[in-house]
Amino acid sequence: MLLLFQREEMGSLQILFVLLLSLFLAKCYSHEQQELLHCLSTYSESNITQNIYNPNSPTYTSILEYAQKNPRWWNSSHPIFIASPRTEAEIRPVILCSKKIGLQIKIKSGGHDYEGISFRSESPFVMLDLSNLNEIKIDLNEETAWVQAGATLGELYYAIAKRSKVHGFPGGVCFSVGTGGLISGGGLGSLTRKFGLAADNVVDARMMDVNGNILDREMNEDLFWAVRGGGGASFGVILAWKLKLVRVPEKVTIFSIHRKLNSSRDLLQKWENISHQLPENLFIRLLIQNGGVERQVELFFQSQYLGPVDELIPLLRQYFPEFDLERNDCFQENTTAGAVKRCYEVSWIQSAFYFYFRKITSPLEVLLDKTIPTQKHYYKGTSDFVKTPIPESGWEMIERTFLEEAGPRMILEPLGGKMNEISESETPFSHRKGNLYNIQYTVGWSDNSESISTQKMAWLRKLYKEMEPYVAKSPRTAYLNYRDLDFGTNQEDYSYSKAKMWGEKYFNGNFERLRSLLVLLSSPAIQVRSLTVFWVSNCQFCAIHISFSMVEVVDQDTSAPRIIDVGNPLYIHPFDSVGASLVPIPFDGVGYRSWRRGVLQSLS
Ligand SMILES: Cc1cc2nc3c(=O)[nH]c(=O)nc-3n(C[C@H](O)[C@H](O)[C@H](O)COP(=O)(O)OP(=O)(O)OC[C@H]3O[C@@H](n4cnc5c(N)ncnc54)[C@H](O)[C@@H]3O)c2cc1C
Ligand SMILES: *[C@@H]1O[C@H](CO)[C@@H](O)[C@H](O)[C@H]1NC(C)=O
Ligand SMILES: *[C@@H]1O[C@H](CO)[C@@H](O)[C@H](O)[C@H]1NC(C)=O
Ligand SMILES: *[C@@H]1O[C@H](CO)[C@@H](O)[C@H](O)[C@H]1NC(C)=O
Ligand SMILES: *[C@@H]1O[C@H](CO)[C@@H](O)[C@H](O)[C@H]1NC(C)=O
Ligand SMILES: *[C@@H]1O[C@H](CO)[C@@H](O)[C@H](O)[C@H]1NC(C)=O
Repeated sequence: MLLLFQREEMGSLQILFVLLLSLFLAKCYSHEQQELLHCLSTYSESNITQNIYNPNSPTYTSILEYAQKNPRWWNSSHPIFIASPRTEAEIRPVILCSKKIGLQIKIKSGGHDYEGISFRSESPFVMLDLSNLNEIKIDLNEETAWVQAGATLGELYYAIAKRSKVHGFPGGVCFSVGTGGLISGGGLGSLTRKFGLAADNVVDARMMDVNGNILDREMNEDLFWAVRGGGGASFGVILAWKLKLVRVPEKVTIFSIHRKLNSSRDLLQKWENISHQLPENLFIRLLIQNGGVERQVELFFQSQYLGPVDELIPLLRQYFPEFDLERNDCFQENTTAGAVKRCYEVSWIQSAFYFYFRKITSPLEVLLDKTIPTQKHYYKGTSDFVKTPIPESGWEMIERTFLEEAGPRMILEPLGGKMNEISESETPFSHRKGNLYNIQYTVGWSDNSESISTQKMAWLRKLYKEMEPYVAKSPRTAYLNYRDLDFGTNQEDYSYSKAKMWGEKYFNGNFERLRSLLVLLSSPAIQVRSLTVFWVSNCQFCAIHISFSMVEVVDQDTSAPRIIDVGNPLYIHPFDSVGASLVPIPFDGVGYRSWRRGVLQSLS
């Protein structure tokens, strides 16, 4: 617990508290730490013990700090070990030993999870930090790339840009986002209208299951389907993606247009009407935020055209004469970020800089930046999909609500184009034809005190509630990658009907297929069939967990199906090969582990 003592701002009471806590933890965890180390050392084929960090290791704090892109939980939950494997082979002992000891595993690639579920848990856990597994192999003849799942988007873009000026990948905006999390949750970005989601451009994947076996597409087509939008951590550890690279022109045009919301209602409506129907090469997303001192709600149209300025200008004249963008505007020196219009003709990789608010003249190396920001930024986010334009009254409400808050933001990403051509069941991401755009809501703060964070989150929840009449209904849908645990977790209530509520928000009809897949995966010892089960890819407390209340199993001896009504919630760790048990499993980590030892003893 050294890291806690290193933080200088603490008062003496807090120090006392931390001291007591660390004594408690030291007592409680040392046994597991020893057990884990001992277990790992029995796997001689790998060097994993050299890449394991406990809270006393000097590197532990910096790895964890880098991991926590949303540091809201910094003071509340830490892994008892961080495992940072340098080869795929080192992952297997981590899985098998955690499973043996009964520790949870949290899989962390880029650490951008909005709710922090890749780096926190209420139970003792090991954080599997994949960021050293970031090798990228590009095959320009085949126009594909094998990308290890710990690689960031920036690392992927960098590797592509080093090799080709006319290839790109439809990833997302933020360079430090992990390909592990982004692609397994879908992946929206400025190329989505032309090429679909990141997940739509995966041609193969390698993953490790709970028994340490490596699977690829050919070996398990169902799993391959699931991890392209269904979330990775519910199914295993994704080791690498094989991605289809896409062709981009040598010259692309980026432009942004600033407006005030209160004087641009018509423009806003027009954007809603047509942004999803524009030619696929034209992507115009909309950021809505508060304009600093003036306290005005601002619109910021951030756009990309896959082609030169001279093609774009006539298109805009046709679709958005209101932007009043002229050829001249695109060849200005010294335009400032706050300018009403900005436009540049650039390479595709420079357009990525622009979307991430970096200078377009930046060196390629900005893509690789992994520094830990000195200024902490805390946030909460959520999302919606929109199927019909929001009426005047909706925008009035949004403007009113935005003016109550200092750090709100909505990002509206148009869909349509390629997204309309892909069927809802092609991947778990079901939000295809009929959806006009996605809304991402966020609120940020820089003082993480209880009172501030509570107030900020209350504001976001209020906005989310007020948006209800204007967004997709039955179910009100959401995007998994903008994870919001307000939709539910399996924390208290284990009913299938509740899990279905948030499962269908993320996946609509695909929820059932994901669920049935998980059930089969979870218990290799007994074949579990259709169940009243709910499953928890966004469970607050677990990376890979499933719970059952009614279970249909196939008897090993007679092959006859049997329904087991477990009555109380039953917790099954998919790392278990022992399958279902009739005993409700204690929820907390200590109870779980003693339960597990009991089961193992009874089997041996
Ligand atoms: C600043 C910022 C910008 C963003 N921009 C975009 C954007 O442009 N487009 C977009 O679609 N999304 C965007 N997102 C959302 C982002 O896609 C998700 O937060 C995504 O889950 C992050 O992936 P990660 O690997 O960085 O996160 P992590 O926190 O490491 O992982 C997220 C989830 O995936 C699981 N996971 C990660 N790696 C693996 C693996 N190898 N195997 C199995 N499971 C794994 C984790 O256990 C966790 O459940 C953004 C988020 C932030 C914070
Ligand atoms: C283990 O580590 C040593 C020294 O760090 C290295 O020489 C060796 O190649 C590693 N072995 C494996 C299997 O990675
Ligand atoms: C952790 O707690 C300390 C003491 O209360 C506080 O000063 C600090 O800001 C907290 N850190 C985070 C990241 O919340
Ligand atoms: C928009 O808001 C500003 C600042 O509150 C105000 O001065 C202006 O008159 C408003 N414009 C319209 C069209 O309502
Ligand atoms: C948007 O579309 C609606 C319905 O087709 C139409 O009534 C409205 O005038 C359009 N608004 C704008 C600004 O284009
Ligand atoms: C742009 O800025 C540079 C450096 O400040 C200056 O030398 C140049 O004259 C400016 N160009 C224009 C068109 O204002």
